Amino acid sequence: MSGISRRSAVGMLATGFVAFLFAPAASVGAVATPQIRAGDVCKRVGRRRTVGKKTFECVRTANGAKWKRAKAAPPPTTSGVKVLDSTALAVGASQNVVVTSDGRKIGAVVTRTASGVVAFSRTCTHAGASVSPGASGQLACPAHGSVFNASTGAVIKGPADQSLTQYKVTERSGSIYITI
Ligand code: FES
Repeated sequence: MSGISRRSAVGMLATGFVAFLFAPAASVGAVATPQIRAGDVCKRVGRRRTVGKKTFECVRTANGAKWKRAKAAPPPTTSGVKVLDSTALAVGASQNVVVTSDGRKIGAVVTRTASGVVAFSRTCTHAGASVSPGASGQLACPAHGSVFNASTGAVIKGPADQSLTQYKVTERSGSIYITI
């Protein structure tokens, strides 16, 4: 090791290691938060994102899907909002419900499958019209004919090309609850 003593080299390595250990977290492997601005192109109508203190919602516009400033979503409740009595939903049946949370009314559709109850947003991912239970096991959008699987929210028939947004459902003590 020409020009640098072994002791100096070890000292420099130790100093570098200590500097790495105590470097600010932002400079070590930090992942930049994607920025969203109103008017930016988005992919999934109905999706909401919060960046910093600003909340955006993906909406369909004349120029395609774009992010728009939205009211911040209320913090999720751990217990959810009661939407139905359990007896109101037989296996295979779907029903439109309204979830009232912090003064907002949000449309959802619940379905009882063989393995439990699932819930999806009623907002069609094509252009935002409201889907409703259609043929057995399906949710249909009257605006342009999209059809979704009532158990999974997946698209069966377009023009929609994105699944419906799914909500968390709990069922306890004879009631069905949705957490938005
Ligand atoms: S808004 Fe639902 S199919 Fe167009």
